[in-house]
Amino acid sequence: MALEKQLSAGDSGEKVRKQTAVYVYEAPVRLWHWVTVLCILTLCISGYFIGSPLPAQPGEASDNYLMGYIRFAHFAAGYILAIAFVGRIYWAFVGNSHARELFIVPVWRKQWWSELLHELRWYLFLEKTPKKYIGHNPMGQLAMFGFFVIGNFFMIITGFALYGEGLGVGSWADRWFGWVIPLFGQSQDVHTWHHLGMWYIIIFVMTHVYVAVREDIMSRQSLISTMVGGWRMFKDDKPD
Ligand code: HEM
Ligand code: HEM
Repeated sequence: MALEKQLSAGDSGEKVRKQTAVYVYEAPVRLWHWVTVLCILTLCISGYFIGSPLPAQPGEASDNYLMGYIRFAHFAAGYILAIAFVGRIYWAFVGNSHARELFIVPVWRKQWWSELLHELRWYLFLEKTPKKYIGHNPMGQLAMFGFFVIGNFFMIITGFALYGEGLGVGSWADRWFGWVIPLFGQSQDVHTWHHLGMWYIIIFVMTHVYVAVREDIMSRQSLISTMVGGWRMFKDDKPD
């Protein structure tokens, strides 16, 4: 309040807006988010080239290892993605209540459903006033669970099943994930589903980034900086 008085006492006559800030995303959640972003970017680019390889390189075959590097990048990012996801699940148990929102969607609450409808109307530009949320809004929560949590599980399980084929029968990946291949039919089916899974995740990412930027501008509460610094700012509608 004192700071506000001090600020508004200036000669410029500018009005000062008050903001309320709440600490929402703890450091491990934020770190996990951005590490996952880098992994998914690497996995999508390298995975795309695994599925649609580059034309043959000129020169001796033994002088070229381009596809080998692309596959290495894919597997390294795959390991990091999976280990980080295990860490994120651990943090859902030991972190604050917002760390659990990604995994527990309260579909049993009537109010959650009515707020989901409100969010849908808001995203479709049919509502004029946004609702404010300290954690995820119901629509974001549903999309993050349905597209990301399920999609990520699927990609990790099918990815390590394919990886187990490369490591060979009896390898750790074959022992842990080998059962996935007969479940889908045969190896090529797993390739196809793993490939389709990439587009499922890309649809999420495109929508997610659009919504994050749109909400940051339109909903009078911070979003992107919240995933960087942890604090959610609620901007008042009118200057005092
Ligand atoms: C591969 C790309 C991305 C993936 C897979 C992804 C995934 C996710 C997930 C799973 C969450 C939930 C976090 C949690 O509850 O632990 C989240 C939150 C968030 N992400 Fe991303 N994200 C991606 C890229 C981005 C980018 C590029 C931005 C910035 C423009 C961004 C901004 C945010 C924000 C602001 C939140 C918090 C939303 C809220 O407070 O409700 N994300 N993201
Ligand atoms: C979001 C995560 C991921 C994406 C978007 C992704 C994408 C892809 C794509 C598009 C392919 C080509 C499939 C084809 O058409 O044959 C592929 C292949 C593959 N991926 Fe992933 N992947 C992901 C996660 C993982 C993980 C976690 C692993 C585990 C190490 C993994 C291991 C593999 C393997 C072993 C192959 C086959 C390589 C080959 O045949 O040379 N992927 N991935």
